[in-house]
Amino acid sequence: MKTQEDGLSRRDVLRAGAAVSAGVMLSSHGRMFAAGSDKIRVAMVGSGNRGTKDAIDCLRADPAVELVAIAEVLQDRLDASVKKIRSRFPDRVKVTPATSFVGFDAHKKVMAMPEVDMVLLLTPPGFRPQTLRAAVEAGKHVFMEKPGAVDPVGVRSLMASADLADRKKLSIVVGTQQRWQPQYQELMRRVHEGELGEIVGGQAYWNWGSSKWHWEPRQAGWSDMEWQIRCWPYFVWLSGDHIVEQHLHNMDVINWATGSHPISCIGMGGRQARTGPEFGNIWDHFTVEYEYPNGVRVMSMCSQIEGSTSRVGERVLCTKGATVTDRSMGYIEDTRGRKVFQYTDPIHSGEVTQFKNLIGSIREGKPLNECRRIAETTMTLILGRLSAYTGRALNWDWAMNASKLDLSPEKLEFGDLPVRPVAVPGKTRLT
Ligand SMILES: NC(=O)c1ccc[n+]([C@@H]2O[C@H](COP(=O)([O-])OP(=O)(O)OC[C@H]3O[C@@H](n4cnc5c(N)ncnc54)[C@H](O)[C@@H]3O)[C@@H](O)[C@H]2O)c1
Repeated sequence: MKTQEDGLSRRDVLRAGAAVSAGVMLSSHGRMFAAGSDKIRVAMVGSGNRGTKDAIDCLRADPAVELVAIAEVLQDRLDASVKKIRSRFPDRVKVTPATSFVGFDAHKKVMAMPEVDMVLLLTPPGFRPQTLRAAVEAGKHVFMEKPGAVDPVGVRSLMASADLADRKKLSIVVGTQQRWQPQYQELMRRVHEGELGEIVGGQAYWNWGSSKWHWEPRQAGWSDMEWQIRCWPYFVWLSGDHIVEQHLHNMDVINWATGSHPISCIGMGGRQARTGPEFGNIWDHFTVEYEYPNGVRVMSMCSQIEGSTSRVGERVLCTKGATVTDRSMGYIEDTRGRKVFQYTDPIHSGEVTQFKNLIGSIREGKPLNECRRIAETTMTLILGRLSAYTGRALNWDWAMNASKLDLSPEKLEFGDLPVRPVAVPGKTRLT
C-alpha cells in the first residue's frame, strides 16, 4: 500500500479546533492556550535535514504555531533552514538575528527566552540528554528526535528528565513516527488484545543497501570537531553507531509489541565493507539476539553496506501467527506463513500526526510524556552495541544501573578531537 502524505485534512482541522475549544491551559510561564487562537511559539535546537522537515511538519500540524528562534552550531545550517522554512510559511517564521544563536551553548539561549513554549531538539543524539534536561528545567514542552542518547549515562539522564517533566506537567513527544501510523496501531492492538495468542519471538531488521548517509569528504579548514559534527553518524559519541541511530525504529516496535524491554542480549558484528578512516569509528553490520521476559527471543540485524539486500521492518511471532510490518504496510500471517489479514485502509507516515498530538496535549493540558519509553528503547540498542563491541553477553540491569559509559568529549569546541579506536570484540573493555 502506498503511504499517503501525512497532512491535515479539513476534518482534522475542525476536530482539532473542537478539542482545543474544550480545553484551556496555562503554559509553563502562565500564558493561556485557548480556542486555537493563541500562538504556540517554537524554537529549534539543531536545524539540519531532518530538523528542518520536522519544523515544517510542526507548522503544518497547527495553524497557530510560530517558529521564533533557532540554536545551531553551524551558521550555514541555520541560514539554509530558515530560508527553507520561511519559503513555506512566510508569515509564521519570526526568527530574527536576535533570536538566532550559534555555538555549543546556543541551546541555553533559546531555553532562556520566556516566550518560547516548545522546543524541537534536532541535534545528533549525542547532545540529546543535555539539551533535553535544559529544556525541561526551563519549563518547555518538547519534541525530540530519536534516539534519546548514545550511552548509559545519557539514558539515565533521560529517565531523570522524564520524571521532572511529569512533575512539571510538560509534554515530551519523540520522533518514532511509526507509533502514529495506522497499520502499526491496528496490528499492535490485535497483538495486545490476544488475537494472535502469546508472543513467543520476533525479528527486527534495518538492513540498508546504502552506506553514505550524511557522509561527505572532509574539507580543508574543517577542524576535527566540525568534521565530526558534519558527518556525525560515523562517530559513536554523536550517533551511538547505526544500530542505535537507525535500527532503533525496529526495536521500538518490538518493545511496543511486548510491552517491555529485553533483559539480556548477545551480539556480534564488525566493519568489513566500510573500513577507511573517513568513515569514523562505527561498524557496518550487527546482529543481536535479545531475550525478553518469559523466554521470548528476538533476532535483530542491521547493516549499512552498499550493494547488499535491503530489508527494513519487523515480525512479531505469536502462538497463532505473526504480524509483519514496515512503514508502508502491515499484515498478519498464520503459523504456516499464509497471509490471513492485510491492512488496506490508507496509511500515512505519522510525521505530522505526532505534532498534532503533541500540540493537542499542550492545549488540552493533558501532558503526553514519551521520554521513559524512548529511554528504554534507546538502551535496548545501546545494550546490543555494547555486547557486540565487547563480544560479551550482557544484562539490562548492569547497563541501566552500573555502566559508567559516557562518550561525551571533555571539551565542546571547534578544535582537535582525535577519533577513538574502532571497537574490537574481546579487546574493547566494558565501562
Ligand atoms: N525520525 C526519523 O525518521 C529520523 C530521520 C532522520 C533523522 N532523524 C534524527 O534526527 C536527528 C537529526 O538528524 P539530521 O538528519 O537532521 O542531521 P543533520 O546533520 O542534517 O542536522 C543536525 C543539525 O544539528 C546541528 N547541531 C549539532 N550539534 C549541535 C548542538 N550541540 N547544538 C545545536 N545544533 C547542533 C548540526 O550543525 C546540524 O545542522 C538525529 O537524531 C537523527 O537520528 C530521525
